[in-house]
Amino acid sequence: MFRRTKSIIGLDIGSQAVKAVEISLEGPEPVVTGFARAEVPPGGEKAQAVAEVFKRGKFRSKQVVTSVAGQSVVVRYIAMPRMKDDELRQALRVEADRYVPFELDEVALDCQALRRRPRTGSDGEGATTDQINVLLVACRNQLLEEHVKLLQGQGLTPTVIDVDAFALANAWELCGLPGEGAAVEVDENGQPKAKEELGIALIDVGASRTTINVLCSGETCFSREIGIGGNDMTQAVARRLGVEIFEAEAVKRAGDEKKPEVQRAIAPVLEDLTSEIALSLDYVENHEGIQVREILLSGGGVLAPGAVTYVEQATGRSARTWNPLEGLRVASDRMNTEELETWASSLIVALGLASRVRTQ
Ligand SMILES: Nc1ncnc2c1ncn2[C@@H]1O[C@H](COP(=O)(O)OP(=O)(O)OP(=O)(O)O)[C@@H](O)[C@H]1O
Ligand SMILES: [Mg+2]
Repeated sequence: MFRRTKSIIGLDIGSQAVKAVEISLEGPEPVVTGFARAEVPPGGEKAQAVAEVFKRGKFRSKQVVTSVAGQSVVVRYIAMPRMKDDELRQALRVEADRYVPFELDEVALDCQALRRRPRTGSDGEGATTDQINVLLVACRNQLLEEHVKLLQGQGLTPTVIDVDAFALANAWELCGLPGEGAAVEVDENGQPKAKEELGIALIDVGASRTTINVLCSGETCFSREIGIGGNDMTQAVARRLGVEIFEAEAVKRAGDEKKPEVQRAIAPVLEDLTSEIALSLDYVENHEGIQVREILLSGGGVLAPGAVTYVEQATGRSARTWNPLEGLRVASDRMNTEELETWASSLIVALGLASRVRTQ
């Protein structure tokens, strides 16, 4: 009866909206116990939106996990000789300047050995057995300091600072979604062909950028950010209709009689974005020898009319938005569940951040 519940707030400080989701462990079960969202006011004063979120959210916890993204964050997948974790850290500290385009004394570095072995040739030839894949992440100290200062200004201390792309993967894991495995195809004699591993692409279309993380056996094997997002669509609508940005934003979201015009305005943006996505997925398939058949879309940007269809057509793969709440229990007495459902697909990063409650 007096069992202590463990809770963590995942705080996604986006460029347009701040989202916070609290997950508590009730026994082994993760339960959504809080949620709030606030738009960043014009002028980009994020602190105000963060304060708003904590006022509205009535969270139990003070533990915050947040994330960084953008050009100050660099992620690399590196083939290294097999070695122990502490040796790996040592080796990467020495070699990192080969992979990181910043002065090393300006960045925080982290690395992790991946389970998936490196492949060099398309047939897997060429990878030596004693090599491992290592994920290297570097983030400019300046961005981390700004982040910590922003939170401390609200009386909060981040316990972990993650990267958006990896939060997507943690949310996917939390929800226990199917979508991977091995594709068994048969040849003309009905005999099974060699199994091909299936990957799954998680793609979050935000306001300022689009984040891709391709998973293979539940583990990241490729990630990338594309500098195209909802803001570009809004600007295209503003130009076509000859209106101010704030008005274009409202027209884009309204989905009313102006929808066909909105669709025509944003078509070139969606074309650029989806051709970059297609290039990335083709690259990862060739490079990793996997098949990416399914795309799970999230972020506010995918709510734009026609966005999902564009992704399907440009990539030749099946795509859908995913609702992370489907597989999760929600403490409905503690929040406005209608609002939660409305924004579900843009809460993936926040949920992925809060999912760390299971391991903290
Ligand atoms: N109903 C809608 N129709 C079209 N676009 C929408 C809709 N609702 C929100 N958006 C767009 O979604 C974007 C905001 O989504 P999201 O909250 O995922 O971004 P963010 O996390 O703040 O941005 P970023 O990740 O780039 O920093 C905005 O561009 C907004 O215009
Ligand atoms: Mg975002």
